[in-house]
Amino acid sequence: MRYQLLGRSGLRVSEVCLGTMTFGTEWGWGADKHESFKIFETFASAGGNFIDTANRYTEGSSEKYVGEFIESDRDHWVLATKFTLKDRNNDLNYAGNHRKNLMRSVLSSLKRLNTEYIDLLWVHLWDNTTPVEEVMRGLDDLVSRGLVHYVGISDTPAWIVSQANTIADFRGWNAFAAIQFEYSLLQRTPERDLIPMARALDLAVTPWGTIGGGALTGKYLRGEAGRVPDDSARRNEHSSLIAQAVVEVANELDVTPAQVAINWTRHRNQVMIPIIGASREKQLIDSLGCLNFTIPDAMIQRLNEVSKIELGFPHEFLKSDGVKEEAFGGLFEKLDNHRG
Ligand SMILES: NC(=O)c1ccc[n+]([C@@H]2O[C@H](COP(=O)([O-])OP(=O)(O)OC[C@H]3O[C@@H](n4cnc5c(N)ncnc54)[C@H](OP(=O)(O)O)[C@@H]3O)[C@@H](O)[C@H]2O)c1
Repeated sequence: MRYQLLGRSGLRVSEVCLGTMTFGTEWGWGADKHESFKIFETFASAGGNFIDTANRYTEGSSEKYVGEFIESDRDHWVLATKFTLKDRNNDLNYAGNHRKNLMRSVLSSLKRLNTEYIDLLWVHLWDNTTPVEEVMRGLDDLVSRGLVHYVGISDTPAWIVSQANTIADFRGWNAFAAIQFEYSLLQRTPERDLIPMARALDLAVTPWGTIGGGALTGKYLRGEAGRVPDDSARRNEHSSLIAQAVVEVANELDVTPAQVAINWTRHRNQVMIPIIGASREKQLIDSLGCLNFTIPDAMIQRLNEVSKIELGFPHEFLKSDGVKEEAFGGLFEKLDNHRG
């Protein structure tokens, strides 16, 4: 295991993060407490120190298990949890990114986690309602109170993250150090704006769903069971072609498809700290093997080709020959350090 700084901060995190959405059986496909502990122990003995949970995962069981597992060495762990998602049905203020829910949710998480502080608090997703200033000021208050050390944001459009960090920087509030979004060979749309933004703002990127919930392991091509429903876009004709390509590359390299899929996300001209999900210990042991090899360029190109997406406007327009000619006065090819 190697370590990375978390974006524009001095915090050191392992090069992969353990996802714990699978800790608890309440959602029908997770691991029971005993298996969850085995997953945790495997990650710890591999040198992992970065662990991701959320207030809502498995109706609170995930936070409770994680709190218990890290208790004997709490300060060693970089513990990340999230707020936003509702903790109670039919109660408007038990959900969202507003200050009341933020404060309530964090205090509840601290109780379930049985800890005095959260290392990294994520906004789980943008609620399209709360003003950016209210969110950033609320998060900054939690940092000032010592309840939270760093803040990050997940599942949010790039322009909102940029606006939030710009406002935070100008006002002297804590800015987001990290960003979380779905990213895999099945979901490359973050290449349009989120990834370039992360590079420009020096945000750590921690992608989730890097094996498409299991679809990229090829298990559904082989008719095996798993948690991805058969009507999911992760299992349609196009996704199956991509999964097939991952399986072929894995066979040629004598590694496993999960290792290829996760490894691919780590070589994207951007530091990526994948959040690895596992329902069983043996899956995590397999997936951690993604750290031990390099995919040759020609195979990366094959995977890129089968999974390629349209970047859309304005990206395609700005790359067109006519625009390059006009904007660079015909000298584009001579510029070694253009930022495109
Ligand atoms: N911010 C967000 O909105 C958000 C959303 C989702 C997840 N997350 C975070 O990201 C983490 C990972 O996400 P994820 O679980 O959705 O995605 P994932 O890592 O793409 O998928 C994990 C699933 O794939 C299967 N699997 C894992 N390793 C395998 C292996 N080596 N071989 C075969 N199958 C394997 C297991 O399902 P089966 O055993 O059923 O096949 C497992 O539950 C979560 O735990 C959570 O911390 C964040």
